[in-house]
Amino acid sequence: MRRLLRAIRKEMDLGWGSLGTVTLGLTYRCNLRCSMCGTWKKGTARSQDELTPEEISRILDEAHALGARELTLVGAEPLTRKDLAGIVRDAKQRGFSVHVVTNGTLLTPSLSSELVSAGLGRITVSIDGPPEIHDEVRGRAGVFESAAGGIRSLEAARKEAGSSTPLIGMHCTISSINADSLTRVQRVAEDLGIESLSYQLISESPEGEVSSSRVGDEVAAGSEFIPGDDSLLPSRAQAESIRDFAREQSKRDPSPSLLYLAAMTPEAIAAGRFPVRRCSVVGRELIADPFGVVMPCSHLDDYPLGDLRKQSLRQIWEGERRARLRRVLKRRLLPICARCCHHVSNLSLRRKVALYVSGRLRGAARTS
Ligand SMILES: C[S@@+](CC[C@H](N)C(=O)[O-])C[C@H]1O[C@@H](n2cnc3c(N)ncnc32)[C@H](O)[C@@H]1O
Ligand code: SF4
Ligand code: SF4
Repeated sequence: MRRLLRAIRKEMDLGWGSLGTVTLGLTYRCNLRCSMCGTWKKGTARSQDELTPEEISRILDEAHALGARELTLVGAEPLTRKDLAGIVRDAKQRGFSVHVVTNGTLLTPSLSSELVSAGLGRITVSIDGPPEIHDEVRGRAGVFESAAGGIRSLEAARKEAGSSTPLIGMHCTISSINADSLTRVQRVAEDLGIESLSYQLISESPEGEVSSSRVGDEVAAGSEFIPGDDSLLPSRAQAESIRDFAREQSKRDPSPSLLYLAAMTPEAIAAGRFPVRRCSVVGRELIADPFGVVMPCSHLDDYPLGDLRKQSLRQIWEGERRARLRRVLKRRLLPICARCCHHVSNLSLRRKVALYVSGRLRGAARTS
């Protein structure tokens, strides 16, 4: 019921109303070097310039005044910040529901206890498959075991504190490396006692789509998702089995991420092109990088909306650069939007319902 109310509110907020969610990329430091990821390449050297807890408190107060109640802490790897639990506690006390996205490997028993007592609402641990596959994606042997150990320590900390939070989710990024192992992902989640499981096809941005994604004369899209020498998009054959997997799995778990994949064509999956028709993210979310530069979304990171060290959040939220982007997106989405990581969030309520209904009908047709 709460989810439905949130979806209706989000639908109404598409009229570019109040700020809903703030995402803080707390750091570009990471202890891993995953094959599909460009985030960690963006600025390790400047870790001493990262936003301080005091700056973050000020930003959160401003965000709260603009209506935001959801805070996502991400990175590169947010758990590399020694002050993470304090930031979570502070945000919770300022009225935010706090979500952390992590690779899970740095979740020690003591950090787990601190995060539980700080009031963390939700944590998403990225796990891309069974041990050998996850380690291959994440570029190092033993990463799966560390992440699994982290999840177990968090579960133990929750139990010890008699707390039902944080809810523990698992997120699987689908690429050519794990496409043939997806049927084993559900078992991994069950074995780890995970409460929710989401899937997302890897985003890769061809250079031509980056350079043609412009707001006026400015190239707005950044280079984070430009693939290296080898693309990690699934082959055509893998794309078909991803689609079939999603169709089968969504009968048991009709989650939006699975229903979305189930409705894509194998051609679109192999090309990594999402059928995004509108943007609801820029209307209600903001992302700040570790140094306080605000971006409209993770793909438009070469179109800064402002700098929180020089301006207030309200000035940025109500500023001309955001208004200009908004006008552009209302006319037509940018080429890069076909690669949008938020493609599921961008679905209208009507399309979500249609996906759900068509998934149910497909399930019924197969089993009858
Ligand atoms: C950039 S990471 C940051 C948080 C944390 N370090 C982690 O790995 O979860 C956030 C999520 O993005 C996913 N990701 C990385 N590269 C991606 C890509 N090219 N396309 C889509 N998702 C990607 C990761 O698997 C992870 O689930
Ligand atoms: S996906 Fe996460 S863990 Fe992997 S390199 Fe990127 S930021 Fe680090
Ligand atoms: S990439 Fe996604 S979030 Fe960014 S402007 Fe395009 S549709 Fe919106």
